[in-house]
Amino acid sequence: MAGRIPQAFIDDLLERVDIVEVIERRLPLKKSGRNYSARCPFHDEKTPSFSVSPDKQFYYCFGCGAGGNAIGFVMDYDRVDFPIAVENLATLAGLSVPREERDRPQRDSGREPAKPQKDLFNILDAAARFYREQLRHHPQAARAVDYLKGRGLSGEIARDFGIGYAPPGWDNLLQALGKDDRDRQLLIDSGMVVVKEEDGRMYDRFRDRIMFPILDNRGRVIAFGGRVLTDEKPKYLNSPETAVFHKGKELYGLYQARRAQRQVQRLVVVEGYMDVVALAQFGIPYAVATLGTATSIDHLKKVFRHCPEVIFCFDGDRAGRQAARRALEAALPVMEDGRQARFLFLPEGEDPDTLVRAKGTATFEQLLGTGQPLGDYLFSAVSEGLDLESMEGRARLSTLAAPLIGLLPEGVYKMLMLDSLAERTGISSQRLINLIQQTPPPTPAPPTAEEKPHYTPPIQRRPLPPRAEIVRNPTLYAIGLLLLNPRLAQQVDSADAFAHLSGDAAQLLRDIIDLLHKRPESNTHMLLGHWYDQPWRTLVAEAIDQAFYVPDTGAAAELTETLSHLRQDRIRNELDSLVDKLRSANYADLTPQEKLQLHQLLSQKHGK
Ligand code: GTP
Ligand code: MN
Repeated sequence: MAGRIPQAFIDDLLERVDIVEVIERRLPLKKSGRNYSARCPFHDEKTPSFSVSPDKQFYYCFGCGAGGNAIGFVMDYDRVDFPIAVENLATLAGLSVPREERDRPQRDSGREPAKPQKDLFNILDAAARFYREQLRHHPQAARAVDYLKGRGLSGEIARDFGIGYAPPGWDNLLQALGKDDRDRQLLIDSGMVVVKEEDGRMYDRFRDRIMFPILDNRGRVIAFGGRVLTDEKPKYLNSPETAVFHKGKELYGLYQARRAQRQVQRLVVVEGYMDVVALAQFGIPYAVATLGTATSIDHLKKVFRHCPEVIFCFDGDRAGRQAARRALEAALPVMEDGRQARFLFLPEGEDPDTLVRAKGTATFEQLLGTGQPLGDYLFSAVSEGLDLESMEGRARLSTLAAPLIGLLPEGVYKMLMLDSLAERTGISSQRLINLIQQTPPPTPAPPTAEEKPHYTPPIQRRPLPPRAEIVRNPTLYAIGLLLLNPRLAQQVDSADAFAHLSGDAAQLLRDIIDLLHKRPESNTHMLLGHWYDQPWRTLVAEAIDQAFYVPDTGAAAELTETLSHLRQDRIRNELDSLVDKLRSANYADLTPQEKLQLHQLLSQKHGK
């Protein structure tokens, strides 16, 4: 096989091709201000949310979050792997692709020409069969069976959901299914087997876990969730993103729900695998679960494709309330007339699994009926902590609620919601409409002439909470700001200032700062070209998502503030540990160095 493509060539290639031209060869683009727009080729939509920036040489979809440079677009659109996308673009630019000598191992051995998806489905199906078989015959199976029985699962429901057992040991699946190189590669590509980075050795991803196969809407196995039999962490392990599995879009149990009923009337969105299975066992076969991620607009589009009603069923704790808030924001843009959404909060400490077992089917279904309708929930969520007796409180309510209502599609429901807001605040509907129109949709593209209905944003975008409310991850936000405004790196001190942060995103932040210090001329699309491997690609997309709406003029200030916050993290951490120490000792017992450190930290903390 040919060697790795040198990064310098990739940078050069990205300089020469024009992303607008690359995309225009594949789908019609329309000029829209400084950018171009189109209907997104990566998800179903009626109004264009897909935008291409010639200045920054990258594309981005507000609807589904897809984004990247020219190479990424060709990879996703033509469904080809990185080297092939580079070849294609090089041909367009009249270049031939150089290769490095083969002495260095390739960065990612999985990056060979795309395997047909059919092979992946086959190996995943074989894995599911293997795990089911192990649940019946493995010498350790009794532990798994006891666990399932202990949780009250019937054999019948375990069979309906294809539940299996990955036995203890590092290579059970590998031995059973990895007969030759091709099969082993498939096991890797499907996420079932992991390659150790240091020495290239392979091992089973799932060991000693109860296995829940995740099915697509045709009933094919696309991934697994695996639960430990004990209280160990992590409790659940999911398959990684693969060519056939996109965690943020799938709903566990949807296939079974559709199969169990001739006509699905409604779907209940719960949090866990076990909740879905328990509800089905108790005669509520219409529950689905996200796979440990927030409810997305993709999830809801899927739900509403099958039925007109959804009930979100969350824990009553803070995490549950936050999950509900995000579900609300994902739901608003798809609440066309005739669709219904309700929100149900369970008593603290309960989940649907425990509740249905304790109270029975009828009570649970009755409880479902008491869920708050979306409109009520919206008003109660934004009114939290506001004094609606005061004028200020009502003003605040209108500024919080109006942008959310603005996300609703045009229709009777939206009008009713506006009327209801008018009634609650004493502000006329017409003024509220003006308010929605004035709240500048934080998108770069101005509306095009024919798509300027009343008070909808110019492009159907991902539901955004009012600006101040965006839940930002500071690390990702900083990455996004740097990716979109690479010049700003010159005002940033060295990556070492962030050495105290852990995790992939922090690593990416440090790498980007380093790269930009070394090569200040890098621009957005070159940067994107550096991190096309998973998991970086996903992180990069998330980072862009967080920073996309920041106008170029405001980016410098935002970056300064965010980085200073991240630096303070270190001060906070160190202070915490010193304070811990102080709690168990006296100030006098600290070493002189610790005293000095404490003073420095305190003055830094108060100085900033
Ligand atoms: P049980 O303890 O088996 O009843 O699980 P549960 O489904 O009630 O779990 P919980 O409510 O704690 O979590 C809900 C969902 O979040 C799970 O079904 C998983 O999809 C996900 N989840 C929970 N813990 C983890 C974890 O440690 N790692 C990952 N990746 N996902 C998790
Ligand atoms: Mn549970």
